[in-house]
Amino acid sequence: MKYTGIEKAVFLERPNRFIAYVNGIRGQEEVTETVHVKNTGRCRELLLPNTEVYVQHSDNPNRKTKWDLIAVKKDGQIINMDSQVPNKAAGEWIREGNLFADMVRIKPEYQYGNSRIDFCVETREKKILIEVKGVTLKEGETAKFPDAPSERAVKHLEELMRAVDEGWDAYVFFVIQMKGVKEILPNVDTHPEFARALWKAREKGVHLIARDCIVTEDEIRIDQEIPVRFPEEMEEEKPQERLKHLPEPLTAWFRKEQRDLPWRKDATAYHVWVSEIMLQQTRVEAVKPFYARFLDALPTIQDLADAPEEKLLKLWEGLGYYNRVRNMQKAARQIVELYEGEMPADYDQILSLSGIGSYTAGAISSIAYGIPKPAVDGNVLRVLTRILADGEDIMKASVKKRMEGMLEEIIPADAASDFNQGLIELGAIVCVPNGEPKCSKCPVEEFCLAHQRGAELSYPVKKKAKARRIEEKTVFILKDGENIALHKRPSSGLLAGLYEFPNVKGKLTQEEAIHHIAELGLSPLRIQNIGEAKHIFSHVEWHMTGYAVRVDELEKISAKNLVFAHPEEIQKEYPVPAAFEAYTDQIGILIGQEKYEQGNL
Ligand code: ADE
Repeated sequence: MKYTGIEKAVFLERPNRFIAYVNGIRGQEEVTETVHVKNTGRCRELLLPNTEVYVQHSDNPNRKTKWDLIAVKKDGQIINMDSQVPNKAAGEWIREGNLFADMVRIKPEYQYGNSRIDFCVETREKKILIEVKGVTLKEGETAKFPDAPSERAVKHLEELMRAVDEGWDAYVFFVIQMKGVKEILPNVDTHPEFARALWKAREKGVHLIARDCIVTEDEIRIDQEIPVRFPEEMEEEKPQERLKHLPEPLTAWFRKEQRDLPWRKDATAYHVWVSEIMLQQTRVEAVKPFYARFLDALPTIQDLADAPEEKLLKLWEGLGYYNRVRNMQKAARQIVELYEGEMPADYDQILSLSGIGSYTAGAISSIAYGIPKPAVDGNVLRVLTRILADGEDIMKASVKKRMEGMLEEIIPADAASDFNQGLIELGAIVCVPNGEPKCSKCPVEEFCLAHQRGAELSYPVKKKAKARRIEEKTVFILKDGENIALHKRPSSGLLAGLYEFPNVKGKLTQEEAIHHIAELGLSPLRIQNIGEAKHIFSHVEWHMTGYAVRVDELEKISAKNLVFAHPEEIQKEYPVPAAFEAYTDQIGILIGQEKYEQGNL
């Protein structure tokens, strides 16, 4: 940011906080001018008699003082003291796309809650609040903020934390109005409350960034990134140090306390793989019958590679996320082709298979082959963020990566399986997802920072997901004397390739439903409203209204991708998604998890 009308002067004295006497403007050493001082925070320290200062001619004709003091020279360096400039310089710098390359809009002075936040930035994906703090205080090579207690600054931090809770991204941007600093710290001497609030804000996921500035007589320009640190007495033990305590008690605990689970009996790579994919979406107890039946039907990777798609989907019916099993089959075919049907004993090769991410690759590598690679899923993230009292949003890929990196350094080479399963088991039965964790049963209770602070339930921090889209549907159980109509869903998208009861968008009244059936070429003999049902997917909710319709002859129907099958045949052969579970009693069949419940099968 360029200043115009800058003049050198010499500081004489300050009769009060807001004005100063200087002389030497435009070389007129004998003329004393009264100048306005914008920044009062560091005046006592910086404005010493005979100090070289820089003043700018004011454009405002109504003002008594015609000059503003905007910078001062200290130890041969110019320090900008203009309290308005950090904001202007930051705005300019952000507008140039330096902080967000995909910025769409920037609004200054954004009213959020009870505070005005300096900037609201919108990118294509996010809304971001940025509060700028100008920094002029420097001790040695350390910049400090604030130079005087600032309740407003604490309030700003509280608003930013609230914004993070409400799904915003939030930044505190320290603009250090000089060069020559190596770090910036909150000033615990002048305002400990601000330091604590800043700490809390960082834990909550507010980004803390700082940049120094190149300052010349008539220009200030944002320059290099400077690390934001906290005084040593505030910094906790480094996360890596804390995690070093885990392996011994965790593996010992797992060996003693682990549950007796089918996939732990004969932990081949294939068994671990199947179980882990199933467990990604379903509770342990519900997985057990699926797991048994799947391996009964497809005991080897070769069998999985060769299975007809419908058989595969039927085995998966009720587990949801059907692409997972399709990907498993792709991976099985890759294994047959590249590794003679044997899961390779190499983390990177496992990771390169279809549908296998770092969690599954780590679980297979460590549990089946003892390879010391981490397996971090949502449950493990919960355990780790509690142990570390880590307040970053666990939905960010970078958090998982950081945790994997830390675990990789401590995972014991001779007990990788017990260590990873120990973390998984801890997440399942002690450090539980719903309700209070059972800390008194935890083998690493004494190392858990969240527990020490009594703040277990504050972690993990997880940004609220977008609200799910709601789709209204009308579902028809169309039956003649014998058969039921099923519609095969398209081969891509939600529930691809599965069989559903024919349905249309919207919530039809009985009359509209009769009309629709007539349009299909059928004559409804009897129609019965069979009620409403709801099914929740990850991004969509179906709100359904069902009609059971008796027709004379299904074959008359004029619609594509329909099949007509006897209920028994449907139960045995056709994969029907659990979304329709509410209506299957109409045809006397059970699908998905229902089949296994209360000894049904
Ligand atoms: N959840 C995810 N993986 C698991 C495993 N291997 N055992 C028990 N629960 C799990």
